[in-house]
Amino acid sequence: MMNFHVLTLFPEMIEDALRTSITGRAMTKGLLSLHTVNIRDYSVTGNGRIDDYPYGGGAGMVMQAEPVMRAYEALQETMEKKPRVIYLTPQGQVFHQKMAEELALEENLVFLCGHYEGVDERVLEEIVTDQVSIGDYVLTGGELPALVMMDAISRMVPGVLSNQESGETESFQNGLLEYPQYSRPEEWRGKKVPPVLLSGHHGNVDRWRRNQSILRTLRVRPELLESVEFDKKDRKYLQSLIRQETENRITEEEINFLSKLLANKTKS
Ligand code: ADE
Repeated sequence: MMNFHVLTLFPEMIEDALRTSITGRAMTKGLLSLHTVNIRDYSVTGNGRIDDYPYGGGAGMVMQAEPVMRAYEALQETMEKKPRVIYLTPQGQVFHQKMAEELALEENLVFLCGHYEGVDERVLEEIVTDQVSIGDYVLTGGELPALVMMDAISRMVPGVLSNQESGETESFQNGLLEYPQYSRPEEWRGKKVPPVLLSGHHGNVDRWRRNQSILRTLRVRPELLESVEFDKKDRKYLQSLIRQETENRITEEEINFLSKLLANKTKS
């Protein structure tokens, strides 16, 4: 059971998204709960304003400390122990799968979504335990990043995915990107499904998929290969790539990378 709490200026954006699809089903099943708090309800000026000009000048507005603190305090009163509070910001640590798995073990998680040029640093110092970025680009607010995190965390909560959904071999589970998938028809607009997948030979299918995963990772995210364990058959496939024995023409740069990788792996 995971209880998400979100401090935001746009609660309906969070509610609508999380109540859709698999996370919505999980809420109906009682595996997840969502509680949004509108920071604007805690305005201290009485007119609903929660932002002000930055000291020192500069563009944009800053979310004030007091409304954020009061919204947080209202939340915290309902909990026995202090929850982890995640502030979404490009200045944070970059989110990854391991972090999702670790956060899925918490009972309560609070997400603080900022807007404008940021949030007064003093309230961040008081309440935030983790500052997280979802990647090196800038969004207009923390709502989408909070949703991205909650989605990734939710699927790590036991029972949220069906056996079929979680039984799938997924990207990053084995440190590699996923292999390509095909469904009916066998031929679509002149393009055929790779014959090995129709062969019924499970060993060959598994080998082909593993090779495709390795090849994709080499092409798109070569740095991921450095933390993958290769067995004898993997190494044989990597050698065949280097010798250009497969129909997958690979670049000189990829060959150099692979050669170094294989040399390092045999050393250690
Ligand atoms: N707020 C704006 N951009 C963001 C990002 N990339 N990650 C997390 N929070 C953000």
